[in-house]
Amino acid sequence: MADPFQDRVAVVTGGGSGIGAAMAAAFAARGARLVLADIDPATLERSAATVRGAGADVLTVRTDVGEAAQVEALAEAAVARFGAVHVVCNNAGIALFGHLVDATPADWEYTMRVNFWGVVHGVQAFAPRLIAQGQGGHIVNTASMAGLVGMEWLGVYCASKFAVVGLTESLHRELKPHGIGVSVLCPMIVQTDINRNSVRNRPAALRNPGDPLDLPEPEAEVAGAMQGGVIGVEEVARRVVRAIDRNDLYVLTHSEQRGFLRRRAERLDRMFDPERW
Ligand SMILES: NC(=O)c1ccc[n+]([C@@H]2O[C@H](COP(=O)([O-])OP(=O)(O)OC[C@H]3O[C@@H](n4cnc5c(N)ncnc54)[C@H](O)[C@@H]3O)[C@@H](O)[C@H]2O)c1
Repeated sequence: MADPFQDRVAVVTGGGSGIGAAMAAAFAARGARLVLADIDPATLERSAATVRGAGADVLTVRTDVGEAAQVEALAEAAVARFGAVHVVCNNAGIALFGHLVDATPADWEYTMRVNFWGVVHGVQAFAPRLIAQGQGGHIVNTASMAGLVGMEWLGVYCASKFAVVGLTESLHRELKPHGIGVSVLCPMIVQTDINRNSVRNRPAALRNPGDPLDLPEPEAEVAGAMQGGVIGVEEVARRVVRAIDRNDLYVLTHSEQRGFLRRRAERLDRMFDPERW
């Protein structure tokens, strides 16, 4: 089978920082040409400079994944520059914390706009192109462990990420006959600036009265809501590369996930015990 990265074209949304920037670097190290998209132009150019410094051919396209027309323009720009697209990572995302009963319509809309609609727009723009090209390829949608297990404090985020897991499992089946791989990335806690970025990138129209415009210091991100060890972005990127190489549907990152997932499966399975059925 042809190498999924060498001289192929990889698009990464949320490619300006965190997991997206690390995936870009890992793909470039395997010989891919890159199209990086992010809502934040400064972070986008920093990430591009890093991979260019390592010798990669990189196109940057400032993109708000919540806007279908912008994601379509991203796909057009990628094909105009490189002639084709092979790996697509719908990775841009934000995280808000709090109890569901306190979540405002703006919290829901902001979260679903980026985490859910961002992935939908990526699938709509790129999947038909990958099929038409007939060159195989791979789509990676970034969900979270919060897309596999419901968590207190992360209800709105969980809803958005469960949706991503569901649509990605379906897409995996749909694109298989076309020779296109599909994976869903479900990490637990990864050391990134997601909390701070989620506050900073929030559109004014979707802020709640009194919301901070920035967070004082980068913190131990996501910690407190999700329990478990914190890993670096390079480890996540390594696992994504391996999943594309092997065509794995699920990309899991933390050994602690096993216990949570097993307990969920056992709880479902117990419902078939004769006394409950
Ligand atoms: N950090 C974690 O612990 C963790 C755990 C599980 C899943 N994730 C998921 O991983 C993905 C990447 O997050 P990260 O931790 O690297 O955070 P990050 O903030 O470093 O990266 C997210 C990037 O997406 C960009 N972005 C935000 N809104 C956008 C929009 N509307 N359009 C385009 N770009 C936008 C941001 O500017 C940022 O560069 C997200 O989908 C997140 O939900 C993160």
